[in-house]
Amino acid sequence: MNILIIGNGGREHAIAEALLKNEETECVYISTHNGGAHERIINAELLNNDIESIDKFLVKTQIDLVIVGPEQFLSEGIIDHLEAKGIKAFGPRKLAARLESSKAFAKEFMGKYQIPTAKYFKYDNYDAALAGLQEFGYPVVIKADGLCAGKGVSICQNKKDAVQALTDIFHNRIFGDQGAEIVMEQFLSGFEASLLCFVSGNKIYPFDTAMDYKKIYDNDLGPNTGGVGCISPNPYWTTDLDQQSNEIIRKIEQGLAEENLGFTGILFIGYLVENGKLYVLEFNTRFGDPETEVLLPRLKSDLLTNIIQTIEGKPVELDFAENVAMATILVSQDYPGKYETGYEISGLDLVDPDILVYHNGTKQIIDANSDQKVKIVTNGGRVLSVVAVKENLAAARQAVYNNINRIHFANMSYRTDIGKTIDNY
Ligand SMILES: Nc1ncnc2c1ncn2[C@@H]1O[C@H](COP(=O)(O)OP(=O)(O)O)[C@@H](O)[C@H]1O
Ligand SMILES: [Mg+2]
Repeated sequence: MNILIIGNGGREHAIAEALLKNEETECVYISTHNGGAHERIINAELLNNDIESIDKFLVKTQIDLVIVGPEQFLSEGIIDHLEAKGIKAFGPRKLAARLESSKAFAKEFMGKYQIPTAKYFKYDNYDAALAGLQEFGYPVVIKADGLCAGKGVSICQNKKDAVQALTDIFHNRIFGDQGAEIVMEQFLSGFEASLLCFVSGNKIYPFDTAMDYKKIYDNDLGPNTGGVGCISPNPYWTTDLDQQSNEIIRKIEQGLAEENLGFTGILFIGYLVENGKLYVLEFNTRFGDPETEVLLPRLKSDLLTNIIQTIEGKPVELDFAENVAMATILVSQDYPGKYETGYEISGLDLVDPDILVYHNGTKQIIDANSDQKVKIVTNGGRVLSVVAVKENLAAARQAVYNNINRIHFANMSYRTDIGKTIDNY
C-alpha cells in the first residue's frame, strides 16, 4: 500500500514512521518536504502545497490512502474532494471539520448537547462585542471564529486589552474573514489536557491523554507557540477525570449522531480542568502536534489498521503501552517571533538508538551530482522533536536531555523544564 500524507511537520513524520510498522505499507509520501525522510518515507516535493498539485501527484503516482494533517485542507473540503474522485482518504469532511474551523459552531454544538464549556456569547460586530464585555469580568477570552494558525485567541487582562483585541479583529481585520465573528468567553483557570480520539461510525475511541507545553520559556513564561514540549500520559489525569471525560464523550457521540455530521477521523478534545471539573476548551479535527509525537510511540495497536477501521466505520481496536513518553522540541532562537533558518544540524547520528527524533522543520540538502544527502539544515521555528519512551517520566526526561546535548545547530533553543516540576509521578 502506498500512502500520501498531506503536511510535513513532526506530526506527519511520526505518522509516517508508525505506518511503516505495518508490512502492508510500501511507501509513505510526504506531500512537500520533511528532512527526516529516509528509505520508504519519500518527499513528494509538491511545490504548491494545494489541492491542484495534490491532484496532479495522484494522477502520476499510485496512492491507496491519503492522510491529512493540517486543518486548513480539511476546512477547505479536501476529504470531500478526494472521496468524490474515489480515493480513500482519512479525515473529516468539510461539514464535520467545522467543529474546528468555526469556534462558534463548536460552542453551539457543546451548548446543545450540554457539554461543559466556558460560558460564552458570540458577536459579529464591534459595537455589540464592546457592549458584551459587561457580561464578563477580567481576564476575558476573545477568540476569532475561524482558523488563525493558533494566533486567534487573546486572553485580555483588562478593558484596554479587550478593546484592542476587538479593534484588531473587527476594524483592523487582522484575521480577515476568519475574524468576521468572535466568541467571547469566561476565563477558566487550571491545567490543560489533550485527548485525541478516533471517531468511527459515530463512536469515539479515545487515545491515552497528553499534556502540551505551549509557552516558549521555562516556567511557562513568554508567548504561546505551536507546542514546545509534551508528555503522555498527562501526569495530572485521574480516574475521576477519566469518568468525567467518558460522560463528555457520550454526549459528543450523541451530538455527532443527531447532527448527522458523518464525522470520520481524529477528534482532538482540548480540555481544561478547573477545581477538579473538566471543561472542553475547543475541538480540533486532526492529529495534534506535538501530541502525536508522544502518543504514537506508545501505541501498541497498529496505526494503519486503526485508520482503516475508522474509514470503514468499524470498532477501532486501540491499545497503548503502560509507559511514559516525553518530547522536548528544539526550536530556532526567537521563535515564535521572526527567526533565521538554514543552519546545519549535527549530531543526529549520535543519539541513542531508542531515542526518536521527529523532524518538525528541517530540510535535506541533496548533492545534485551524486543524489546523495549531504546535510540537514533548519527550516522552521520548531525544528526537531526529541522523544524518549521509558518506564517513568524521570527516566524519559533524563534520556531526552542527555541526547539533546549531542545535537547542535546555530541558534538552537529549547525549554529545560519539560517534565521537571511534576514530582508526584
Ligand atoms: N476559556 C478559557 N480560559 C482560559 N484559557 C483559555 C480559554 N480558552 C482558551 N484558552 C487558552 O488559549 C489557548 C488557545 O485556545 P484554543 O481555544 O485552544 O484556540 P486555538 O488552539 O485555536 O488557538 C488554550 O490552549 C488555552 O491555553
Ligand atoms: Mg488549541
